[in-house]
Amino acid sequence: MKHLAAISPPSPIASETPPTKPPHTNLQATLRNALQNRALRSSRRRLTVLPPTSIDFSSNDFLSLSTSPLYRTRFLNHLNSAPPRHPFASGGSRLLDGNSPYAESLESQIATFHHAPSGLLFNSGFDANIGVLACLPQPGDVIVHDELVHASAREGMRLSRAGRCLPFAHSDPKSLERVLRHDLSERERGARNVFIVVESLYSMDGDIAPLRAFVDVVDRVLPHGNAYFIVDEAHATGVLGPRGAGVVQELGLEERMFVRVHTFGKALASHGAIVLCCPDTREYLINYARSLIYTTALGFPFLASIKTAYELLSEGETEPAQHTLHRLTRYLSKRLDKLTSSVDPAIFSVDHFPGSPIFALRSPIPRRLAEACQREGIVVRAIMAPTVPVGKERVRVCLHAGNTVEEIDLLVGVIWKRVGGGARL
Ligand SMILES: Cc1ncc(COP(=O)(O)O)c(C=O)c1O
Repeated sequence: MKHLAAISPPSPIASETPPTKPPHTNLQATLRNALQNRALRSSRRRLTVLPPTSIDFSSNDFLSLSTSPLYRTRFLNHLNSAPPRHPFASGGSRLLDGNSPYAESLESQIATFHHAPSGLLFNSGFDANIGVLACLPQPGDVIVHDELVHASAREGMRLSRAGRCLPFAHSDPKSLERVLRHDLSERERGARNVFIVVESLYSMDGDIAPLRAFVDVVDRVLPHGNAYFIVDEAHATGVLGPRGAGVVQELGLEERMFVRVHTFGKALASHGAIVLCCPDTREYLINYARSLIYTTALGFPFLASIKTAYELLSEGETEPAQHTLHRLTRYLSKRLDKLTSSVDPAIFSVDHFPGSPIFALRSPIPRRLAEACQREGIVVRAIMAPTVPVGKERVRVCLHAGNTVEEIDLLVGVIWKRVGGGARL
């Protein structure tokens, strides 16, 4: 992790935009117009490059595994232990030349770690969610989903053959119950498959879903076994649950989840995802999930890095980082509680769920607040609509095992200067 003494250049540097020439075609003009409109609404997205010395309160590298010497050594050992002419590239789709005993045995190892009957690797969490949601619901089935599920789940639902996709209020079992009782037809409730799509730890709000309460609702309202949970554990993987196995395992609900998606690009310092499911579902996905079939499978270096991460998890090597992360989370939570107790909530408030390393700093000036932090070498991001609903813009703070108490003190100090002590917006 980067140290305070090393802070130098301030804010993220926007990548260079090519000089603007007059548009050649109508399409170019349309595209530019759309971008200008976004800029006018302050919602134009830009690629940025972070100064290497900045303090990371933004990335999803929750365990700071991607800079861990142990991870690096193990990963390089795996790479070096391959025979000299072992191909680095997978060579094709998993269904053609992209499969290997290495990939299959990795799937079994991960499934065992997560107490699942089987698993299927995808190239990313985005692909996994699209693959699962686009093909598992059958024509006429219903998807009932948390209103804040990730864009990848939304894309999957958009592509799916489900008859209807119904949202329920975020993390609210009563709302789920209302939708299941009152918005499903008799036929849907009795004879169709009803998929319930949630995340376990939400990436923007940072709250942990009440999975057990959801299961209780389903048991009451749909007791005949036609409800199927699909839970995305992207942000919980490595962070929550026994040895970072996730919230489902923390609660002992493995058998109640039809599909679990764990991604490797966040706390696991790698790339890709696994869909944990029964062998029938795995075979079905191999046959119908287009985001698996029509893409080149993960190559050996990524498989080796995923293997490295799971070895560290299952050997308990990441537990100290997990504990440090939770200790820092409690520390930041306490410091922010103190700060908010003396600030007008219209100017600054904090949404935080105990145990979650993600904090949402709510303020009418998220961009300016983020910029104030960035000027001090602290990387945080203002999250604006449409990534979050209008009116729910915030500065997202993500803690990492590699952050220090001093870094947290610096962050809180900068926030205090901007919003505390009678500061004017
Ligand atoms: C909840 C959730 N699911 C899925 C994804 C996509 O995962 P990946 O980055 O591996 O494509 C993300 C990424 O931000 C996410 O937050």
